[in-house]
Amino acid sequence: MVHTVIIGTGCHVPARVLTNQDLEKMVDTSDEWITTRSGIKERRISSKDEPCSFLATQAAKKALDMAQVKAAELDMIIVCTLTPDMLMPTAACLVQKNLGAEKAAAFDLSAACSGFLYGLATADNFIRNNISLKILVIGAEVLSCRVNWKDRNTSVLFGDGAGAVVVTGRNGKRGILSNHLHADGTLWKLLHIPGGGCVSPPSRQMLDDNLQYIHMQGRDVFKLAVRAMEESAREALESNNLSPQDIDLYIPHQANMRIINSIAERLQIPREKVYVNIHKYGNTSAATIPIALDEANREGRIKEGDLVMLNAFGGGFTWGASLIRW
Ligand code: COA
Repeated sequence: MVHTVIIGTGCHVPARVLTNQDLEKMVDTSDEWITTRSGIKERRISSKDEPCSFLATQAAKKALDMAQVKAAELDMIIVCTLTPDMLMPTAACLVQKNLGAEKAAAFDLSAACSGFLYGLATADNFIRNNISLKILVIGAEVLSCRVNWKDRNTSVLFGDGAGAVVVTGRNGKRGILSNHLHADGTLWKLLHIPGGGCVSPPSRQMLDDNLQYIHMQGRDVFKLAVRAMEESAREALESNNLSPQDIDLYIPHQANMRIINSIAERLQIPREKVYVNIHKYGNTSAATIPIALDEANREGRIKEGDLVMLNAFGGGFTWGASLIRW
């Protein structure tokens, strides 16, 4: 049986730390409010020299190093992002250039905070057709460029960073067991960036109306996130005849500690099996899961044969789950 296996992980975050105390000086908020409502203590913010493709490249180099794969051996690069350096070319083409991965096809994939799961599932399908492919899947975001730093409802939640995996095919029981992807476009207005696309192209008016920023109805998003993530987690387990008790490490999208706690409680996954790093980075959208996966991997939290569940939710709406036998 051919399975897609993760043979290397890596992550990179910008050096600049923005703490809750820093935010207290920027908007009407408090460390206490942010911590109790979201679990976030600080986040990383990119400088002009650290665009999406830079963060992605740094994370990719570490993943390639761990995988002992040369950039020239890569067949494909998928960058999952909603904040590419520019609209054209893709961030993936810039990563391909930075790495010198001459033979790799390269494209961006946009599914907001579920992006990495969509990217991993895409790579998995290519590899199931050709076991020898080596694919780099990266989640990378510079959300700070889309945050209205005067809006306390959103500015406290988001951050910048990137995580990457190298995947290839192997015969055996290890690898990605299944992916479960979903979307509901009828809910698009609850979480969106209205400006900068063809509906509201860049203009003075667009900027004056703050359409370039993230717009969110937090309370509705919260409820939908819990329900959708729980449902897709159960779907993934059931389709593999597994139960929540079989999970060795649960890696959820890091959007809000209360969302993570609610799902873990509903699925009855004990705290020690839930990977959390939201306090350090906030919500880095498509990057949260690959960053967490890399940190868990390097901390020795995942052993060969462990069952790892990835579970995400994001704008669109999009959501999903992937189960991996490590
Ligand atoms: N600091 C202080 N007060 C704030 C605040 C901030 N940063 N942001 C909002 N508030 C205020 C609100 O204005 C409101 O005040 P009011 O009662 O006087 O109107 C009060 O806090 C409660 O707001 P509410 O929106 O009900 O809080 P909440 O408990 O739902 O928490 C979120 C808000 C945004 C943290 C929460 O809804 C959430 O995390 N939602 C999901 C968002 C998400 O994950 N998005 C990405 C998905 S991929």
